[in-house]
Amino acid sequence: MLYNKKIVELTPAKLQIITMSINKSFLQFVPIICHLFSLAVATNISAILYDVSPFIKVYKNGTVERLFGTSIVPASFDPTAKVLSKDIKISPKLNVSARIYLPKNANCKLPLLVYFHGGAFFTESAFSPTYHSYLNSLVAKANIVAVSVNYRLAPENPLPIGYQDSWLALKWVFSHAKGKIGNYEEWLKKYVDFGHVYLGGDSAGGNIAHNMAIWVGSDMGIVLDGLFLNCPHFWGKTLIGNESNDPKRAGVMESIWVHAYRILRVSMTRYRIRVWIRIFRS
Ligand SMILES: *[C@@H]1O[C@H](CO)[C@@H](O)[C@H](O)[C@H]1NC(C)=O
Ligand SMILES: *[C@@H]1O[C@H](CO)[C@@H](O)[C@H](O)[C@H]1NC(C)=O
Ligand SMILES: *[C@@H]1O[C@H](CO)[C@@H](O)[C@H](O)[C@H]1NC(C)=O
Repeated sequence: MLYNKKIVELTPAKLQIITMSINKSFLQFVPIICHLFSLAVATNISAILYDVSPFIKVYKNGTVERLFGTSIVPASFDPTAKVLSKDIKISPKLNVSARIYLPKNANCKLPLLVYFHGGAFFTESAFSPTYHSYLNSLVAKANIVAVSVNYRLAPENPLPIGYQDSWLALKWVFSHAKGKIGNYEEWLKKYVDFGHVYLGGDSAGGNIAHNMAIWVGSDMGIVLDGLFLNCPHFWGKTLIGNESNDPKRAGVMESIWVHAYRILRVSMTRYRIRVWIRIFRS
């Protein structure tokens, strides 16, 4: 989802008013200047660069603190679900990988679900206990093969990297529908019916799944049977529905996009600098 930050520029007329008021009475601005100064001091004292709780905190020294979703569990055989899993490196260079799930008693080709985990693009992985147990139970109940994609996370790897990694993984999975390929995975070749492919994800992963479905379009040689979106995360410049009822939550949602998509952050910084320069020049 592309998200456009509304850019407000000070028009020459507005700037004129600001300059005039400064000339008129400098004294009335003294409290405001003091306030701005104390804000600047407070910001400097804080070690935090930005805070997108409950997902991440980023410190000025460059440390990214992930507030959950960092623990991992190994691929295994789940005796309750009777599902096998294993990890595959799709691009060792980019560190894009996936965990593949297969019902233990599979003896024919099964539908495929390519899954994208949630976590606001900042946290969680295909290897976390949450997604490992979720995929195990889903694969058992639906009797499918699943590929849970591990894409690189923002803010170190800002969007669109998460989309590009997911696309790379998806193309690799789909390449099994054709003849022999180099980096070939036996479970996909042997047990996947590429006539029944689904994409799915929750939260940020729902957003990725939605984008991937659009990218697949109609010229990949694969026809998607369905898209399974669990609480997908979308956002736009105009608040819709009841989004404006909860300004705090809306603030977090906005903050996710600003910090996950560095292009937005850069353009906002430029905007601020431009306004300051213009005020000082006039
Ligand atoms: C960065 O700052 C945070 C918070 O003060 C601290 O916990 C962390 O250890 C620091 N990391 C480095 C590499 O200095
Ligand atoms: C590669 O990804 C794995 C799984 O997310 C992670 O544990 C590891 O630190 C990553 N390696 C590098 C070199 O980034
Ligand atoms: C907005 O609507 C959704 C769906 O009906 C509901 O789950 C949520 O609690 C509502 N939020 C607010 C702030 O009203």
